[in-house]
Amino acid sequence: MDKILVLDFGGQYNQLIARRVRSLNVYAEIINFDKITCEEIKEKGYKGIIFTGGPNSVYDESSPHYSPDILNLGIPILGICYGHQLMAYMAKGTIESAKDQSEYGKTLLEVKNGTIFEGVPKESIVWMSHTDYVSKVPDGFTVTAVTSVCPCAAMENKSKNLYGVQFHPEVTHSEYGMKMLSNFIFNVCKCKADWKMDDFAKTSIEKYKKELAGKKVLLALSGGVDSSVLALLLHKAIGKNLVCVFVDHGLLRKNEGDYVEKVFKEKFDVNLIRANAQDKFLTKLKGVTEPEQKRKIIGSEFIEVFREEAKKMGEIDVLSQGTIYPDVIESGKGSSAVIKSHHNVGGLPKDIGFKEIVEPLRDLFKDEVRAIGLELGLPEELVYRQPFPGPGLAVRIIGEITAEKIKIAQDSDAILREEFIKHGIDKMANQYFTVVTDTHSVGVMGDARTYGYTLSLRAVTTDDFMTATWTRVPFDVLEIISSRITNEVKGVNRVVYDITSKPPATVEWE
Ligand code: XMP
Repeated sequence: MDKILVLDFGGQYNQLIARRVRSLNVYAEIINFDKITCEEIKEKGYKGIIFTGGPNSVYDESSPHYSPDILNLGIPILGICYGHQLMAYMAKGTIESAKDQSEYGKTLLEVKNGTIFEGVPKESIVWMSHTDYVSKVPDGFTVTAVTSVCPCAAMENKSKNLYGVQFHPEVTHSEYGMKMLSNFIFNVCKCKADWKMDDFAKTSIEKYKKELAGKKVLLALSGGVDSSVLALLLHKAIGKNLVCVFVDHGLLRKNEGDYVEKVFKEKFDVNLIRANAQDKFLTKLKGVTEPEQKRKIIGSEFIEVFREEAKKMGEIDVLSQGTIYPDVIESGKGSSAVIKSHHNVGGLPKDIGFKEIVEPLRDLFKDEVRAIGLELGLPEELVYRQPFPGPGLAVRIIGEITAEKIKIAQDSDAILREEFIKHGIDKMANQYFTVVTDTHSVGVMGDARTYGYTLSLRAVTTDDFMTATWTRVPFDVLEIISSRITNEVKGVNRVVYDITSKPPATVEWE
């Protein structure tokens, strides 16, 4: 299989670059610039290299650099943004700061010529985001495109197969970005388009049928997309030798536990054990109000319950985890992406007593995992579900967690979801839920005064959950939801809508 190396210098779009390449059916791998040497690059046989963007200026002492020997490996390279400047710097060109003339956003590109611009019109829109620019191209290079303020928006050294672009071809705002990437991948690197997602499920099932034959495999199934797809994949490979443990901590959405059990047991006949540990969790959380403390208790209790279930099974050969590619990158193996401390990418402790870990989805992006899920017959409802935090409703209930507040969170969330789907708001919002605040306020119902909980609705629109804007839900939909919740959910007499973006707020309230 032909492979492209995405050498990561800390750019925000590095994952996107790899996904775009994969969407051309060529396998791309992201590796941090300080995690691979020139020799290793050569050994691994990449057909091409892409230098990502980065937040730095090449002349900053702290900025990421790489051995210029990489330019002489004979492997084609495309430098993007910082990667373009770095290529120029390595080859002894000059970079300057445009200080008061940064280019940001959609910009008109004027193409002169150039291999990666084959089939691209003379003028088109690209996405720019830079202050520094290449003011003098290195010897052997020519300028292949400009903008009104950038004298070197693209350059090439055709004989050495080195290409640089100041803009970001990987973002959709760059009209012909995919054409440029495809020119590089196919015309320059001569890659074969042989990374096919539809083969993945078939090949993996065959592979694990052989590798895991006769072994007992344990999997923690949460009902989220990754563990669900994994469960089904392994079930198809090894049948009843896969045991899925589903820990129900009682902080799931309304009827979620029953739904997950039904889908996997009844529809797919998966060997599933549901550990009903609601009371255990509630007891441990009694009196706890501090958010991080809640997370810690839930995390360690989860492991405890899982360990007890595992013990009952006797000898376990393999633990399987639904780690996916962004987890691998975010946990520091690859790149720059911000590490979210609350995401349990470390996995389950080794003392559960298994001999081996298997992570079949490790190389896949979320959309690829979803595609496999659909292919395996997982209901769309499960495949496209919004993210749900590990500690569940605990981070949506402010203050102490009580059975009453859990019920309010579950019932109100069910109404919100139902109305969002009914009015098509689920297409606008990437995550939406309700928050039980710890505030009471005075209300009136009939002739009586009430003193109930204030409930907040939260809906965000986002690409990556690192930043988010609050979703512009139409007032009439908000009104329906507010009125249904105050009428149907006991204990709530006031509903507010959270109109804060991230930053400064986070998506969750805790
Ligand atoms: P925040 O609140 O950090 O959320 O803006 C960003 C995304 O992460 C999810 N999230 C969590 N996921 N365990 C998880 O597995 C957690 O403790 C946790 N906290 C937040 C959140 O739902 C959103 O999708």
